[in-house]
This record gives sequence, C-alpha cells and structure tokens, in this order.
Amino acid sequence: MRWFFLLSGVIACAGQPVSSSCPIQMSPPSVVVRFGDSFSVNCSSSFDQIESMGLETIYGTAKTTGLSYVNITIESVRDWNMGPICYINRVTEGQCLDTLPVTVYKTPDRVSISQPSLKGPLVEGDQYSIQCDIVNVAPVSNLSVHWHKGDTILYTERFDGSSLSPVNETSVFNLTAQRGDDGTQIWCEAQLDFWGPVPNLTTTKSESRDVIVLYSPTFMQPRNVTLELPARRKFILDCAAAGKPTPVYSWQFPHPIQQTNQSENQSTLAPSIQLPGIYRCTASNSQGSKAKYFTVTEATRNRTTFAALVGGFVFLGVVIFIGGLLLLTPNGTFSFSQGGYLKGRPTSSGPI
Ligand SMILES: *[C@@H]1O[C@H](CO)[C@@H](O)[C@H](O)[C@H]1NC(C)=O
Ligand SMILES: *[C@@H]1O[C@H](CO)[C@@H](O)[C@H](O)[C@H]1NC(C)=O
Ligand SMILES: *[C@@H]1O[C@H](CO)[C@@H](O)[C@H](O)[C@H]1NC(C)=O
Ligand SMILES: *[C@@H]1O[C@H](CO)[C@@H](O)[C@H](O)[C@H]1NC(C)=O
Repeated sequence: MRWFFLLSGVIACAGQPVSSSCPIQMSPPSVVVRFGDSFSVNCSSSFDQIESMGLETIYGTAKTTGLSYVNITIESVRDWNMGPICYINRVTEGQCLDTLPVTVYKTPDRVSISQPSLKGPLVEGDQYSIQCDIVNVAPVSNLSVHWHKGDTILYTERFDGSSLSPVNETSVFNLTAQRGDDGTQIWCEAQLDFWGPVPNLTTTKSESRDVIVLYSPTFMQPRNVTLELPARRKFILDCAAAGKPTPVYSWQFPHPIQQTNQSENQSTLAPSIQLPGIYRCTASNSQGSKAKYFTVTEATRNRTTFAALVGGFVFLGVVIFIGGLLLLTPNGTFSFSQGGYLKGRPTSSGPI
C-alpha cells in the first residue's frame, strides 16, 4: 500500500484530479493475469513537453526522464488488487495519471457435487437440491457455474460479490426427477468469464454423477386393444411397458383353462389356447402398476363367409336334387358315374 499513499501525496500536491484525458496510452490497455503469472506493460505518451514519467506498481517503480515511454515487467503477480499507475509530469500543466485495469484470477482448487441425494436412486416427480461447491476461486464477480445434464446445460448461475481475493461459493440446483433423466449424468462446471480471450484459461469440472430415476410402468402402446380372432394365425398381445425397476407382468385370461405357467412375466403373449374374451395384462414395479385390456372377438367376416358357405351348399343341394329329377325322369339315363361326381362335389369344395 506504500505506493498508494505515495501517489495520493503526489496528487494532493499537484492539485489535479485523476483525469481520463491524460495523454497516455498503455499497452496492453488492460490485463487479465493468473495469480502467480507475469505480465508487462508499456506506458507511452504523445505529449511533447514531458519532464518525466513513471509506472508505479506494488512491486516497484519504473521511471524515465527524456523518453516518451516507460515499461515494466512484473515477474509474478502476488496480490489480488493491483492497478499499476502510469503518470506523466508535464512542464506547465503538471502531473496526470492513469491506472491500468488488472484482473487477477485464480481457477478453483476443487469443484464438487456435495449433495448425497444423487448417490441413491431418485423418484420421478420428487424434487432434489443438488449442491456444487467451488473452492478457492477469484474474482467471484466473473464466476459462473454451469449445470450439465449429458449434452445440455440445465442451468447457469452467476455470482455477485466484490471480493477480489479467493472465495468459496456454492451453487444449488433444484432438479425435479423425470424418467428422461434416468441413465444421464449430471455435473457442474466452474468458469471464469472475461471480455476477450484469455490464453490457457480452463474451466473446472466436478465429477459426474450417474442419475437413476425410479418410475412406474408406462405401456409402449398405452391404448386398450380390440382385435378379431384370426381364422388360422396366432394372435399376439403386446403389453410391453417401460419402467424402473424393470416391470413384471401378469396376465388374466377370459377362461381359466388358458391360465398356464407360460404366461408368467411375459411382456408379449401368444396364448396357447386362443379364445375370444377380455385379456388383462398388469405391469408392475415398486413405483406402481398399470393394466391394459385386450378385447378379442370372433371375426365377424369369418361368420359371414361361413353363412355364405352354408347357404351355397343348400342352394347346390337343391340344384342337384332338381337336376337329378330332370336327368332321371325323362330318359332314365342316370348313371352312377355322374351321380358319384355330383355327390362328391360338395365335399371336395368344402375347404374353400
Ligand atoms: C513502448 O511503446 C513505445 C511507443 O509506442 C515504443 O516505441 C517502445 O518500443 C515500446 N517499448 C516496448 C518495450 O514495447
Ligand atoms: C474455503 O474452503 C476451504 C476448505 O474447503 C478452506 O480451507 C478455506 O479457508 C475456505 N476459504 C474461505 C475464503 O472461506
Ligand atoms: C468481470 O465481470 C464483471 C461483471 O460481472 C465485468 O464487468 C468485467 O468486465 C469482467 N472482467 C473482465 C476482465 O472481463
Ligand atoms: C382400458 O380399459 C379399462 C377398463 O375398461 C379402463 O379402465 C381404462 O381406462 C382403459 N384405458 C385406456 C387407455 O383407454
């Protein structure tokens, strides 16, 4: 702080307010430097009547008389608040000065998720506060914390605070567990945001946590199903459901005769005895259970075909009978071969 009082004295003597119109340029015009690193600054002036000029820092002062620039290199920044001051002493107007804005930063020693709630499984719909601890970071006003879930950023928190020296911070994120979160990973990441690029500035990540979310079964195809009993093919009932833990299935059949061991814990089922009626499937796990109904009916189309077929036979029978009468009575040429053929015909057309 010695330099500060020194300068205050200088300012008081000269009676000049700190002025931004002081004709000096600093290169670079501002500095972002990691604690412990080095930087250089060159202060120059285009003013032509300079007695002397200087650059004052906590670590030392560079002065010149006769030159229009002065520079200094700081080997290792060891303070959190340091604004090097460049001044010129002009022949008639006296002294003026400018301060180089220096931001000294430090990336966190550690970033960690401290909430134990993420260690066990979460329950869908419940809310969890997850905490991210950031240890020893500066400056807090440039700190942001990003909460990641897989590839997406869920939430970003920025911090207010005037402290230039390192602080510990905590970010709390409230997560309402959803089934989509199951199997994802969550982590937090501390980042320092500065205008313009800062070489070698890295972010600090916490370890990632695997998220497990328990949720009740939900059918892949949630609608109740109505289907017609197909003539020959086997029908398959699809009861597949998503859920955590993996759902177990149970089936209820319209006829007790159908209940077999085959039906135990199957998500899809082809009943070995295919009968019409209402089949019920229940998918359950620790979080709940859901039922889905399958209504199997006799195919109406098959019934009409059958009726048409029966009608056809009757009609054919009548035709044969009449035909037989016609063939037999007028000329008496009824033969066994003809009769056998006609007689056999309905049987051979049976499976059509
Ligand atoms: C400082 O700036 C002056 C004026 O722009 C220049 O002539 C001089 O070479 C610079 N010095 C250094 C060390 O960069
Ligand atoms: C931050 O936390 C660490 C340990 O976690 C402790 O040693 C340190 O003193 C804390 N810093 C501040 C500024 O509280
Ligand atoms: C640090 O953050 C403050 C406010 O959040 C911002 O005004 C300032 O420009 C930042 N510093 C740098 C060097 O970008
Ligand atoms: C399925 O049918 C059952 C019983 O009729 C009913 O309670 C349930 O709401 C139906 N589900 C759907 C998704 O339509």
